Amino acid sequence: MAPPLHPHASACGKVILLGEHSVVYGHPALAAGLPRSIVLEATALDEPTAPSTLRVDDWDLDLALTVDNGHPVARAALEVLGFCDGPLRGWALTGRSHLPARAGLGSSAALTVALARLVLGEDAPIDEVVEASLAGERVFHGEPSGIDSQVAARGGVLRFVRGEQPEAVTFPGTLPLVVIPSGIPRSTADQVAKVRALHGRRPRLTRPILDALGVTVAEGIDRLQASDLQGFGEIMNVAHELLSALGVSSSPLDSLCSVAREHGAAGAKLTGAGGGGCVIALAPADPDPLLGTLRARGLSPFPVAVEARLP
Ligand code: MEV
Repeated sequence: MAPPLHPHASACGKVILLGEHSVVYGHPALAAGLPRSIVLEATALDEPTAPSTLRVDDWDLDLALTVDNGHPVARAALEVLGFCDGPLRGWALTGRSHLPARAGLGSSAALTVALARLVLGEDAPIDEVVEASLAGERVFHGEPSGIDSQVAARGGVLRFVRGEQPEAVTFPGTLPLVVIPSGIPRSTADQVAKVRALHGRRPRLTRPILDALGVTVAEGIDRLQASDLQGFGEIMNVAHELLSALGVSSSPLDSLCSVAREHGAAGAKLTGAGGGGCVIALAPADPDPLLGTLRARGLSPFPVAVEARLP
């Protein structure tokens, strides 16, 4: 018989600072966890054979976890619970999240990591939790690099290379960002497929762009460790142009980057898969005019101070 679920579990969301897309091709990426982005609670139903349910009001989710429920979140949740040998019936799962869903901020990885921890416990070995999360992530994203699951499980700032253990990156102070959800939906699988198709058609052109995106990570870490935020911002701008060259930006995302720079941000770029989703900007000394302009456009930007955990 499957063990009972733990009463609570949590996981981080993420922002990819540098190296999205190129990470799929074996280059490094740099990402930061957004702490406790989802908290799940599990309560046993009176009827242990009744289908489990998953409700996250902040994400407009209210699902029965049954195999014939075509909703990808229901399928992914059952994959994760099954992967961990957890109970597939008899539980009500409720979540709270301050993270926008489906915006490129790792909400699906956060959900799948928290689900794995409901079965395995908050202190379960990270590698086991990540493997279980990936079983769910494949339902959403095809063959993800794994960066989202690693950051959701570990938090902090990570340098990630596909197939290797991630390294925690430390730097003095904080990296002040403004996260700007564009409100435009995107599909990670579609954007990854678009880059793959370009790479297939034009490998000699695409390879150097991916290589250069990989180099932004080494240079970005170097600038963070030298407390050179202006320099980091410049690298963010270059990364955005390289991602545009891969075809994963869009005029709304370009325009959000321009607005951020016009309001004093030293750097701005799309984050995550692109197409829609979010832009991140290095916060200007006074972020209020930027936040005001974006809110007047009906957007909901939020400031984040990325802190690297010192050992
Ligand atoms: C998505 O958050 C990041 C991508 O690089 C895809 C992946 O790493 O699987 C676009």
